[in-house]
Amino acid sequence: MSLKEKIDQRRTFAIISHPDAGKTTLTEKLLLFGGAIQTAGAVKSNKIKKTATSDFMEIEKQRGISVATSVMSFEYGGKLINILDTPGHKDFAEDTYRTLSAVDSVILVVDSVKGVEEQTERLMEVCRMRNTPVIIFINKLDREGKDPFSLIDELEAKLAISTRPLSWPINMGKGFKGVYNLFDSSLRLFEPSKTSMEKEIVEIRDLNDTLLTELIGDADTAQLREDVEMIEELYEPLDRELYQDGLLAPVFFGSAINNFGVLELLETFINLSPPPQKRPLEEGEVFPEDKEFSGFVFKIHANLDPNHRDRIAFFRICSGKFERNKFYNHVRLSKKMRFSNPTSFMAQSKNIIDEAYPGDVIGLYDSGNFKIGDALSEGSKFRFKGIPSFSPEIFRELVNKDPMKSKQLDKGIRQLTDEGVAQLFIQQPGNRKVIGTVGQLQFDVIKYRLEHEYGAKCDLVPMNFFKACWITAEDQANMDKFQRQKANSIYFDKQERPVFMAESQWMLNVAQENNPGLQFHYTSEFDQ
Ligand code: G4P
Repeated sequence: MSLKEKIDQRRTFAIISHPDAGKTTLTEKLLLFGGAIQTAGAVKSNKIKKTATSDFMEIEKQRGISVATSVMSFEYGGKLINILDTPGHKDFAEDTYRTLSAVDSVILVVDSVKGVEEQTERLMEVCRMRNTPVIIFINKLDREGKDPFSLIDELEAKLAISTRPLSWPINMGKGFKGVYNLFDSSLRLFEPSKTSMEKEIVEIRDLNDTLLTELIGDADTAQLREDVEMIEELYEPLDRELYQDGLLAPVFFGSAINNFGVLELLETFINLSPPPQKRPLEEGEVFPEDKEFSGFVFKIHANLDPNHRDRIAFFRICSGKFERNKFYNHVRLSKKMRFSNPTSFMAQSKNIIDEAYPGDVIGLYDSGNFKIGDALSEGSKFRFKGIPSFSPEIFRELVNKDPMKSKQLDKGIRQLTDEGVAQLFIQQPGNRKVIGTVGQLQFDVIKYRLEHEYGAKCDLVPMNFFKACWITAEDQANMDKFQRQKANSIYFDKQERPVFMAESQWMLNVAQENNPGLQFHYTSEFDQ
């Protein structure tokens, strides 16, 4: 098979949602259809249980299990599908954002009862930044949810994306009878079942068919006809290009737990979703068909078990062909490296692989050489874009508790932040270190790991910051003036770029108004 055929065969995507919308359930059903697992319940371990939020070791244990299911691959309809799992827990949101840099499209799950939730909006913002194509699955139709038209309006308004319904529900909750597939004009009747695979499809070529009335009754037939007429009037036919450019999201309705609407979602996904796409570099782009092998690390998982202190770097292949035991160039370190046991993630077992292709995600064992965003190539000095850090939400000062261990503390915090556990900001002069995270949990992780892996003890003292903004200026004089005026609030990130720590939205607004010559950036990646 040629490289192009290998690429065309692959589909790499993530399922994302606000916690509890049904991401795990949907993932599991897709794996069941793909034959990658045989029984329901197999993926459940992936989810961080709500009850465990205060016990981070318990969460780590669960995350440990989830390494095996961080990437799940299976074949369906002649395609090789890689699903990248994203942690649902809000405190691991940064992990999710980074994982999204490694996919070519996403399926967004929305709870029909709750509609668009906070995390849904934030995830969608990240997708929009990269123009990632999105298919929306509205779940839990077996419950009394919001009216489908209002749901669609809510999606468009809150997620700032155009939509195109491709299926339409006939009632919901107790009266839920099924969905009408607008794509191929067929009707699927709902039969609650957590085990059986949906198969019964009734073809209704014409909504005036009397069979429809026989199946769903007069009132629902009339309603469906009216709804479909309205949809056809309101929405243009699906434009594949707009979808692939991330501007239009096809919408499906179903009930993941009941296996309902999942198969048609999968089949449409196979049909519509893009194969591995080009990736942006600091300079230029990398195309999957390029002969030279390249890719980047988007996630690092450290094992907290003291007997197995290895790290796995999750590596997305962007171009060319990866081969086991071949020497590649670690771009940041300018170092030749080869990998004797790279792993694939077929279903739940990890296998050593000899070769891999664009779109694939492989696991590379790492003894501390990698940090998030690192590239490998056959020689070119590629620097991949699209893996930004976002402003943290919680800030704490790192205070050393044992002066004899300051080197260990420094090394530890640098390595942990390389792994993406948190972000580090340093004030100069003085070397004051502030750690920023999106959730409290990361602080427990940091404290525990500094002590157990690096033998360093620290206090993490709350800081009253609201946001970290990267600042740039065309005229260096403006920058110097601001840095002098705000010396107490200026820190530097690990690339030594200046960051303004704002104490409140108000102070941020004032700083922006008073300094029109400065640009304030909410993510670490911006055009200089
Ligand atoms: P998440 O990964 O997005 O966080 O959600 P997950 O799949 O774990 O689903 C969250 C809850 O919603 C689960 O119930 C799950 O069974 C339920 N659920 C998923 N799909 C549907 C659906 O189509 N209809 C209905 N009614 N419920 C659905 P739970 O009680 O929190 O967990 P469990 O005890 O069932 O495991």
